[in-house]
Amino acid sequence: MSKTEQRKVVLAILSNAGGSGKTTLATHLAYELARRKIGCRNCSVGLIDLDPQGSLSLFCGLEKPLTLEKSISPVLSDNFSGNWPFVPCWSDYKLKVEVCQSLQQPLLKTADDLVNHPRGLYLLADSLKDYPVEHDLVIIDCPATLGRLNLAALAASTHILIPIQLEPKSASGAAELLQFYFIECRRLRLDPYPQVMGIVPNQYRTDQAIHNEILAQMPTIIQQLQLKDAHCYPAIRFSYEFSNASGAGLPLHLYRKKHPACKDFVKLADDLSAIVGAK
Ligand SMILES: Nc1ncnc2c1ncn2[C@@H]1O[C@H](COP(=O)(O)OP(=O)(O)O)[C@@H](O)[C@H]1O
Ligand SMILES: [Mg+2]
Repeated sequence: MSKTEQRKVVLAILSNAGGSGKTTLATHLAYELARRKIGCRNCSVGLIDLDPQGSLSLFCGLEKPLTLEKSISPVLSDNFSGNWPFVPCWSDYKLKVEVCQSLQQPLLKTADDLVNHPRGLYLLADSLKDYPVEHDLVIIDCPATLGRLNLAALAASTHILIPIQLEPKSASGAAELLQFYFIECRRLRLDPYPQVMGIVPNQYRTDQAIHNEILAQMPTIIQQLQLKDAHCYPAIRFSYEFSNASGAGLPLHLYRKKHPACKDFVKLADDLSAIVGAK
């Protein structure tokens, strides 16, 4: 991919820890962006589930696809001919958010098969390039293991966000993930490297001393790694309502409209809007 070629905004939500809030972040950013305008129409968002666990379906209020053809797996194969298996979600709320779902066993097999394909790790990038989606923004929900599916996400993305839970191992975890990013972008010969937008601390409790300590370390980690234009974003507060909302298949904004945590996504959504060109 040459530097001058115009690419769609493809945001990968990456983390090497389970439960850090990848799917929460993917769905809430999809909602926030879909409310914003590009010209006189709403921004459209495509969510891609690259995690075999497939929790994006649950968070979006969707049943799992019945057949593998209706999942992400065919997109990562030679036979893909541009028939993206996107299904709408939250359409009752007049939002243009669509989801490309995953199915556990087929996606695990797909991940294995990437090894034997000469362009295995680039198949998602190739499909997005050869058969551009109509969405203004694509968000990829990645698995927690730093394996082939995450390498495929890295190769396909233009931007990266890293959610972290505020635990003692989070600072070292974030540093390891960023090392993975540098090493693998180089090995994949990505040009340019996807831009790291930053780290998003999640499940923040102001009354926990350890949370405040770890938050204070984040800017230094970003600085040490010399990540140009990367931020430590405002933390997303802890609330049980996040689990309740995802259990109901909705973002918090639709589940508890006035919940104060809805505001925690605003700075992130503003920055992402500026990248996508939405207002
Ligand atoms: N800020 C938060 N406060 C409380 N619970 C949260 C918060 N963010 C996420 N959760 C819950 O934590 C669990 C893990 O979040 P999830 O987004 O699925 O993480 P991941 O995709 O990284 O595994 C889910 O049950 C989710 O509802
Ligand atoms: Mg998840």
